[in-house]
This record gives sequence, structure tokens and C-alpha cells, in this order.
Amino acid sequence: MRDSIAHVHESAAHHRNGVVTLVLKMSAHSSTILWCRGGGEFSRSAADHVAALLARKPEAVIALPTGQTPLGMYGELVARAAAKRLSAAQARFFDLDDYLGLNVHHPLSYARFLREHFLRPAGVPERHIRLLRGDAVGIEAECREYEAAIAAAGGLDLAILGLGINGHIGFNEPGSDWSAQTHVVCLSPETRATHAAQTQGEFAIPEYGITVGISTIVAAREILLLVAGGAKARALAAFRSGIPDPKWPVTALLTHRNLTVLAEAELQPA
Ligand code: GLP
Repeated sequence: MRDSIAHVHESAAHHRNGVVTLVLKMSAHSSTILWCRGGGEFSRSAADHVAALLARKPEAVIALPTGQTPLGMYGELVARAAAKRLSAAQARFFDLDDYLGLNVHHPLSYARFLREHFLRPAGVPERHIRLLRGDAVGIEAECREYEAAIAAAGGLDLAILGLGINGHIGFNEPGSDWSAQTHVVCLSPETRATHAAQTQGEFAIPEYGITVGISTIVAAREILLLVAGGAKARALAAFRSGIPDPKWPVTALLTHRNLTVLAEAELQPA
């Protein structure tokens, strides 16, 4: 894959409301990195992106990330929904990943996280929500049914992604098969250690996860990648190198035709 080096150069930096836009030009494709200062600006920009899609297409099909990074965006979207400045009630939502074996009431469950922080307070009806069932009996069937549900909804209009410190997207860890659809994954020691630290060791972190595959992600018509926190610098640098590399799953996004990267300005190299 190293042969297919994409020629990336950055140009067209300009300021708009304090947001610096940098356009990464890569052969036929182009990605946009929006560097945002401060947590509020980052969250508002992410929410603006989702709000613009919902305004264009109220019934949009959206895949959601979990983690610290999107929390501010969810808060912003919920506040706008409460103020009747947007409605997510007609949109349909999926999630990207979850731990294997946990039911939706477990404190570590991503399904629980998304219901608590976004879906319920934003007023999304249950019939528009399909989340991965990490505790499904017959997990292979669950993976197939999940893909079928996304297809039946018309495919993803938008996949919103966080970024793991090792470059994972969803739970697609380094070395993942880029042609995979929804599947069970063995979590890397690095990922489990990060999550154990985030929960102060309160819970045993499962060894396995379930995730939409990279092929499911890149099939989304639009992708929004959210990158916050200094620990993401190496993974972001791998992406910015423009070289698709299975050791850095995030680089699978490099050839996507409609990708926006929202990154905290502190990650911008001097
Ligand atoms: C987890 C999740 C990812 C998420 C990543 C980043 O590993 N599986 O979907 O994007 O963490 O999380 P955070 O935003 O907390 O850094």
C-alpha cells in the first residue's frame, strides 16, 4: 500500500470566525481540516456540521461516535434541539461500536452513553434508533443484521468519527482489514489501557468489541472526523502524511471524497 503514496500538500489557509481552514489537496480528492480553538468552538463547529446536514436532509442517516471528544457536540445539539433551533426527530441513527458482552444498561455501554447524552435529550424516537447489541446471542447474525439495517435505511449519509490514540476509527484497530463490514474485534492492549485509565480502573474493560468495519465507514456519503486531545497527535500526523497505511486505520479515510476533519488547534504543528 505504500506504493500508492498520495501527494498531499496543504494550501488555502484562511481564517473564518477564528476557525482556520486548511485544505489538504490529494490527487483527485480533497479533505478539509478545520483547526478550532477552545472546546466551545470545537463543539459548535461539529454541531454546525450536523445541523447543516439535518437542515438539508431532515431524515438523514447518521452513525454516531462515543468518547470524550464528541460530548461537547452532543451537548450543543441537545441545546439547539431544546431551543427548537434544530430537530433530529426525523433522522435515523446508528452507532459505530460497542464492547462485546455488555447489555445496554451497563455503565460502559456505548449504547447507554449515546441514549443518555444525545438520543433521548434530543428527542429522537426509538423507532429511528438502531444501536449495536453487544450482548446479542448469535453475534455473527447481529453483525449481518446491522449491515442490513444500514442498507435498508439507504446507507449512511454521515459517519461521525472519533480517533483512537493508535489511529483506530470505531473499534477498527491497527492492522484491521479495510474491506471488513461490521465484525467482532479483539481490542488492543493500548486501547484497553486507555479506557481503563478513563474509568479510573472502576470497571474491567472487555477484551472484545463489535464495530462497523472500515468498508462500512468509507461507504458513508460524508465523513466528519473529530480529533481532540494532545494524545491524538501521532495518529493525526499519520493521517496528514497522506500515506494509506494499515498500521494507522484512520488513513483509510484519505481517499474519501467528502471528508471533513475537525481538529483542535493545539494539535496543529508549529
Ligand atoms: C474509543 C471508541 C472510539 C472513539 C475513541 C476516541 O476507543 N471505540 O469510537 O472514537 O475511543 O475516544 P475519545 O474521544 O474519548 O478520545
